[in-house]
Amino acid sequence: MENLRILILAAGKSTRMKSKYAKVLQRVGGRMLIEHVLRSARSISGDIWVVVGHTSDKVKASIPEVKFVDQREQLGSGHAVMTARDQFAEYTGDLLVLSGDVPLIAPDTLKAFVDFHRKEGYRASVITADADDPTGYGRIVRRNESDVDAIVEQRDATPEILKIREINSGIYVFDAPALFKSLTKIRNDNAQREYYLPDVIGILVSQRERVGAYKVRSAAEILGINTRQELAVIDLLMRRRKCESLMAEGVTIVDPRSTFIDEDVRIGADSVLYPSVQIYGDTVIGDDVTIHSFSRISNSTVGPRSTVLEGCVVVDSALGEDVAIGPYAHLRMGSMIAGKARVGNFVEIKKSTLGSGTKSMHLAYLGDATIGCNVNIGAGVITCNYDGVSKYPTVIEDGAFIGTDSQLIAPVRIGRDAYIAAGSSITDDVPPEALAIARGRQAVKEGWVKNRKKK
Ligand code: UD1
Ligand code: CA
Repeated sequence: MENLRILILAAGKSTRMKSKYAKVLQRVGGRMLIEHVLRSARSISGDIWVVVGHTSDKVKASIPEVKFVDQREQLGSGHAVMTARDQFAEYTGDLLVLSGDVPLIAPDTLKAFVDFHRKEGYRASVITADADDPTGYGRIVRRNESDVDAIVEQRDATPEILKIREINSGIYVFDAPALFKSLTKIRNDNAQREYYLPDVIGILVSQRERVGAYKVRSAAEILGINTRQELAVIDLLMRRRKCESLMAEGVTIVDPRSTFIDEDVRIGADSVLYPSVQIYGDTVIGDDVTIHSFSRISNSTVGPRSTVLEGCVVVDSALGEDVAIGPYAHLRMGSMIAGKARVGNFVEIKKSTLGSGTKSMHLAYLGDATIGCNVNIGAGVITCNYDGVSKYPTVIEDGAFIGTDSQLIAPVRIGRDAYIAAGSSITDDVPPEALAIARGRQAVKEGWVKNRKKK
């Protein structure tokens, strides 16, 4: 939107969270609180400023592409905005103020809110909602249907005002010069000894300026998070919403209550998720995929018709079409499993590629390995990729057969269709179509037991 600057208040410490860190760093729905707010903010303006204070270095490091205002002492939400006064001295447009701890606010709501404010010609406007339980929120004292008289904090309210169910969201739009002029008049003679931003509303009204209230239908959208209990409530809400939308798109979720799926995850139709599945981050899952219980998939892709059996962990990796992994497989750091490959129980794959049709069914460690198509990796095979200082690659060409309990001591290359005999320790390259045996020859001492008894 044109002529719209956004200021996000994120300096407060999380007293009620009992945390060492700034509240906005708490995670909900797979993202930090501040990231949720930033997402909505970015969709309507690129001119974004964030007030930071408590553990500001950590906050600054975790959000790129915004400008910061430092509030060294946190003396209240009004004081937080005041801190930006010098930096905003030249700015004469509209200022949208968002709270870093109100994460569910939707971009469309913000846009409609600013449109409302501009169309009605208000000097300031606030988003409100009727709450079933308004406890803890500032109350909206109305002048009439659309205009506001004042906002009164819970702790400063009379019993009469406490009965009001319309709450302050902590989201406002102001005419910037009028805001900074009024801010010089707010005082901290209240229950919390803080400079309240909502007091600006009463000051503007007393100067005969009109203040609007934009009421949203559901108070859920403006829930503010102050405690870990509230984090859990919102997390549940976000999760439910995600499961609902996936089910509407044709995904079977056997037990939505125990299924955790981040907002950005995409899943194709006719896929089935069994109870207690977790899918996080930037994950894309194709059609007809089945994911069994207790598996966790993060920042990965899973191709159509693939199956993830119980207890798998897949991180930053890609599975092709018709792949099956697990139970209890662990894939990580850019591993790629091509179509129709099989990875079985207790197999760990790190930074490795498996070609199509390749099988590693039991108890293996494959690290820094490039493995071709239709390779058979026997039970207990280990790529010895680390000498205590550096990591080395292993290459296994198409069609090779790696016998059970072999160690491939990297760097090493196994040629196309070659065989490695079971129990070998392979230190040198093996040419295509060769058989390599690298173990002590068996010795048999006949009658050894009887001879020993005689002694
Ligand atoms: C605030 C509002 C309340 C509203 C509620 C909505 C005030 C005085 N009250 O109450 O009317 O209903 O939000 O959720 O504003 N912050 C700073 N610096 C400070 C103090 C706060 O940056 O010195 C930031 C916080 O990090 C937070 C936001 O301002 O993001 C709101 O502060 P908080 O203490 O959570 O206010 P509430 O008590 O929730
Ligand atoms: Ca709050």
